[in-house]
Amino acid sequence: MATIREHIRKKPWLGWLLFLATVVVVFILGLLASSIMERRAEAVFAYQPEVKHSQWEPRSEVWGRNFPRQYDRWKATSDTSFRTKYNGNAQIDMLERNPRLVILWADYGFSKEYNQSKGHYYAIHDIRDILRTGAPVDGQSSPMPNTCWTCKSPDVPRVMSKIGAEEFYKGSWEERGHQIVNPIGCADCHEAENMNLHVPRPALVEAFNRNDRDVEEASHQEMRSLVCAQCHSEYYFKGSGNYLVFPWDKGRSVEEVEAYYDERNFSDWTHGISRAPMVKAQHPDYELFMTGIHAERGLACADCHMPYTSEGGQKYTDHKIVSPLNYVEKTCLVCHKESEQELIQNVYSRFDKVKESQYQLEKLLVKAHFEAKKAWELGASEEQMQDALMDIRHAQWRWGYVANSHGAPFHSPIESLHIYNTGINIAHEARMKLSRILAGLGYNKEVKVPDISTKAKAQEVVGLDMDKLNRQKEQFMEKVVPEWEEQAVKREQNYDIEKLEN
Ligand code: HEC
Ligand code: HEC
Ligand code: HEC
Ligand code: HEC
Repeated sequence: MATIREHIRKKPWLGWLLFLATVVVVFILGLLASSIMERRAEAVFAYQPEVKHSQWEPRSEVWGRNFPRQYDRWKATSDTSFRTKYNGNAQIDMLERNPRLVILWADYGFSKEYNQSKGHYYAIHDIRDILRTGAPVDGQSSPMPNTCWTCKSPDVPRVMSKIGAEEFYKGSWEERGHQIVNPIGCADCHEAENMNLHVPRPALVEAFNRNDRDVEEASHQEMRSLVCAQCHSEYYFKGSGNYLVFPWDKGRSVEEVEAYYDERNFSDWTHGISRAPMVKAQHPDYELFMTGIHAERGLACADCHMPYTSEGGQKYTDHKIVSPLNYVEKTCLVCHKESEQELIQNVYSRFDKVKESQYQLEKLLVKAHFEAKKAWELGASEEQMQDALMDIRHAQWRWGYVANSHGAPFHSPIESLHIYNTGINIAHEARMKLSRILAGLGYNKEVKVPDISTKAKAQEVVGLDMDKLNRQKEQFMEKVVPEWEEQAVKREQNYDIEKLEN
């Protein structure tokens, strides 16, 4: 048999053919290998960090250089165009919409200004702009302490990491204005090193510890709620240092937290009309959510307010935190088969019913405050009034526990109605006691509630000089805020950011 060499000697082109074929095969194999390597490299380097920064880097745009998708959607919380029947992110003047609130909060900051929330992006702008923080210009101080900054910014854990929480809370609100400038962002929920979820604020961690629980040991699914609960919970300012505390030692129900405050004789303020010792429920979103069916079935806040989304084959978490009715297809429809319209209707029908009870309770409370005022005017004694005032305190506490938790009518409709039911009963009790006191003082008629049909009228009734407050605020925004911003820009220039080679 002729060898290959003999064949080639006879037909030299055959040699060339073999040579070329080998080259082509080797080339194709090479391409294949390189493509496999590239794919693997893609899988490993889908995450291409561009910069290295510290845990306490407060600027979300710096973190965003490593995670542009999450950053873009985080930034989308600046959108204020979405409105639903009761919520959404449009700026709505809640006192204008419901002037009874001015009466319920007489002599308390909230009667000056209270707006529907616009979104995390505005947290710093809104706390500076709101009349409640006053106008600390020319050596004047704010009516609020530094504690008020706590839930607004990743600059808070940054400063706390240097001086400790106790020191942070002390002093008047304007003292830390130059330090707290970036709105709620990445560092509030993530560890820089590995992007794990974390809770950098102490109040939640301490409340867990007092109940023999450890946030460090929470499951991943629990963390998807606890990052929110560090801010979206009931709290109060304890003692002269205004230390921020979650009042959960007896439990988190409306009754248990009420008992906690009563035991300590704690009140936020004395009511300007009835003189009742009041507690304002802040925003027990987490507490009430946990009593609802979705929590019982194991859902976390992020399941509805931060849904998974997909782009170019990449799955990631939508960081536009807003009313879930903004993206029903990505949230509710992942689990429910009903139509979008039907699910929205489910939300609204629960809200309609719960709001109905809210308004009933408000009307009773407004009357009770003015009846108490009348009783004082006619010479009632402290002792005579004590029981009725405690009833007013408890009824309004229950009102606020649901009313200030803006998702509660959906998160937990049954618990919400239970709370309003008991609140309505207690308000009736208060009014009965007051009418007996009034009768004893010789007054048998109905006590007239003044005209509070608009915000302006209601604010006049509680004795607020709105023109003056607005004028002073304007001055503060023009004079003081730009100085704070300027100091922040200078400081932030010195933060360590290491550019990485890729
Ligand atoms: C209010 C809390 C919160 C804030 C603020 C926040 N995140 Fe997240 N982030 C989450 C939650 C919750 C998840 C989902 C975690 C999970 O399920 O594993 C997440 C997931 C992520 C992930 C993992 C990949 C993914 O998309 O699921 C990255 C990366 C991330 N966030 C980046 C950022 C960046 C960058 C910022 C700032 C621009 C930011 N986050 C701000 C709560 C937050
Ligand atoms: C650092 C504190 C903080 C954390 C953490 C936080 N929030 Fe908020 N949240 C706020 C504040 C403050 C506002 C009001 C901001 C404003 O409108 O000025 C707000 C507003 C909101 C709103 C209303 C937005 C709108 O469009 O009206 C929703 C919904 C919300 N938060 C849900 C969440 C969820 C869900 C989480 C957890 C994944 C979370 N928040 C984590 C402080 C926080
Ligand atoms: C099963 C879905 C679901 C889960 C889980 C959930 N929410 Fe909600 N949330 C809603 C719906 C629906 C609304 C009402 C939206 C509306 O009326 O536009 C709402 C409203 C809110 C609002 C008011 C929104 C606004 O526009 O002002 C806040 C704040 C809020 N939720 C926070 C939370 C927090 C914090 C958690 C976890 C403790 C949580 N939610 C868990 C569905 C959910
Ligand atoms: C991760 C899955 C999941 C998501 C997301 C989800 N749900 Fe549910 N939902 C459930 C489960 C589980 C139940 C309890 C049903 C049961 O066990 O029979 C439930 C119950 C309900 C109920 C009946 C309970 C009640 O309040 O009377 C309504 C209404 C509802 N969901 C609406 C919604 C809406 C609206 C959204 C979006 C904002 C939503 N759900 C998002 C899983 C989910």
